[in-house]
Amino acid sequence: MNILVINGSPHTRGTTALLRDKFTEGAASVGHNITTFHVCKEELHPCTGCNHCRTTENGCIYKDGMETLNPLLKNADCVVFVTPLYYFGMSSQMKMVIDRFYANNTALRSLKKKAVLLAACGDTDSWTLDALYQHYLNICQYLHWEDLGSIQAIGMYTREDIENSDYPKAAKILGQSLV
Ligand SMILES: Cc1cc2nc3c(=O)[nH]c(=O)nc-3n(C[C@H](O)[C@H](O)[C@H](O)COP(=O)(O)O)c2cc1C
Repeated sequence: MNILVINGSPHTRGTTALLRDKFTEGAASVGHNITTFHVCKEELHPCTGCNHCRTTENGCIYKDGMETLNPLLKNADCVVFVTPLYYFGMSSQMKMVIDRFYANNTALRSLKKKAVLLAACGDTDSWTLDALYQHYLNICQYLHWEDLGSIQAIGMYTREDIENSDYPKAAKILGQSLV
């Protein structure tokens, strides 16, 4: 499978980076091709709802990092969303990219894809990631993408927290399990 990892964390050595590394290690070990798009390293603009993409043949008015991401998205069999929890949702960097899917909704909804969520948060309440997870599931439902699973790492404020947890191992197993 062609796996596209969309990394929505600004931290290169943070908690979700370790989940991402272990997941890709597992997926690569069973022969998948992995491409990673680091949202925070790209020049990207938030959707302004101008509807240029709907009213012209020229797509989004912004010709930015999405020009790199769009063909990767089109070719991906599986899209992996990697995000820290920011105020009970995905990072604004990740949300910005997903909003930009709007310019290609029809194509994205008609292409058969699978999806995975890798997320981490600091608090330990069992419900902390519920809204983010539900949001992810609704996105999958809308796009007609099949959810292949998630790692929801609760109580992981720091890199040290997650290094001392079982979540990296679970992320590797999830990567290995993809078919
Ligand atoms: C702006 C911001 C908002 C956050 N909001 C939450 C939150 O609502 N709940 C929570 O448990 N942790 C929250 N956190 C903590 C992060 O989710 C947590 O430290 C995560 O492991 C960071 O992932 P990263 O190292 O991959 O960037 C927040 C952190 C930041 C910087």
